[in-house]
Amino acid sequence: MTSPILHIVGARPNFMKAAPVVVALSERGVNQKLIHTGQHYDASMSDVFFEELGLPRPDYNLGVGSGSHAQQTGGIMIALEPLFSDLEPAVVVVYGDVNSTVAAALVAAKLRIPLAHVEAGLRSFDNSMPEEINRRVTDELADLLFVTAPEGIDNLRVDGASEDRVFFVGNPMIDTLLGSLPRFDRTIAAMDDLDKPYAVATIHRPSNVDDAESARRIVRMLSDLCDLLPVVLPLHPRGRANLAAQGLAGSARLRVIDPIGYLDFMSLVRHAALVVTDSGGIQEETTMLGIPCLTVRRNTERPITISHGTNQLIEPGEAASRARTILSGEWAPPPDKPPLWDGHAGDRIAEILARRFGSQ
Ligand code: UD1
Repeated sequence: MTSPILHIVGARPNFMKAAPVVVALSERGVNQKLIHTGQHYDASMSDVFFEELGLPRPDYNLGVGSGSHAQQTGGIMIALEPLFSDLEPAVVVVYGDVNSTVAAALVAAKLRIPLAHVEAGLRSFDNSMPEEINRRVTDELADLLFVTAPEGIDNLRVDGASEDRVFFVGNPMIDTLLGSLPRFDRTIAAMDDLDKPYAVATIHRPSNVDDAESARRIVRMLSDLCDLLPVVLPLHPRGRANLAAQGLAGSARLRVIDPIGYLDFMSLVRHAALVVTDSGGIQEETTMLGIPCLTVRRNTERPITISHGTNQLIEPGEAASRARTILSGEWAPPPDKPPLWDGHAGDRIAEILARRFGSQ
């Protein structure tokens, strides 16, 4: 038996990126194993994605769960080290920028196991975001850097990555989106009697929900938006208490619901007039669907969603006026889509991995 290719996933945004790579490697008959760190553990944050995306059940679930950054990252490292030593993988593949990503990268690098990073080279240039630290450390350690957008190549060059480590492959999360498009036809309960046009909002970043003043600004933003159009807010558990403490309350105009699965969420987005978010991935998904996206952040590690897509960065206080402009029809998405966002990124990644590591 050859040494396995190990995929490490842990948090919601990892699953859509890993699925096309796992499927494409399985089509090539490559020995692989899937490890779930348990960073996200609620059924609505994890299980539903496995059911919907064609991901096999994880071979291992470390059940690490929530905690401070050090507790979570350290817990994952402690659980992964003996597993990597036992399994002797040919390569460890990590996805995105969450704590599970950097934890696995550190363990693999110190055990001298080859490391591949899918979604390398993204930079917000803002170290107050934990994800930026995770990305930089992971990219520094990775032997193979799979880049989703051309600016990633430039960022890696600036950081001194040698050309032979960098592979511009496109965006596997977009593979998942394009492959699932016909299934974005669901009607969820929150859409009952929902007047069009409506907006979808998601807010969970520490910078928007962790302190009282930020949470207050977000609650005011949502209330201003509701004066213009109904808003559906699938709410990540992280900000729920702080937003509620600042007066967030559901109504017929502001439908606050629990997190929903991928197909339900994308069905909701597909029919929305606009999206207000602080997520990373949703900036990309709305770019592909041609839905205007207002990103409530000072920066983005995904500038291609602004230059080639539908995205704008806003302060919370600007949301209503930008939404008014969009609703008035004075907005059109740019005609070009980002290069290589064509549904074949998983294949390109699998081809490179299989060639290098598939028969070790
Ligand atoms: C993590 C990622 C973030 C990503 C987000 C997507 C890091 C540093 N952050 O943030 O980049 O955008 O996932 O969702 O890795 N919780 C639950 N149930 C769960 C998971 C979390 O209730 O299944 C709650 C817990 O109270 C937990 C909090 O959410 O403490 C935060 O979870 P955590 O995994 O630490 O970070 P996220 O905010 O989800």
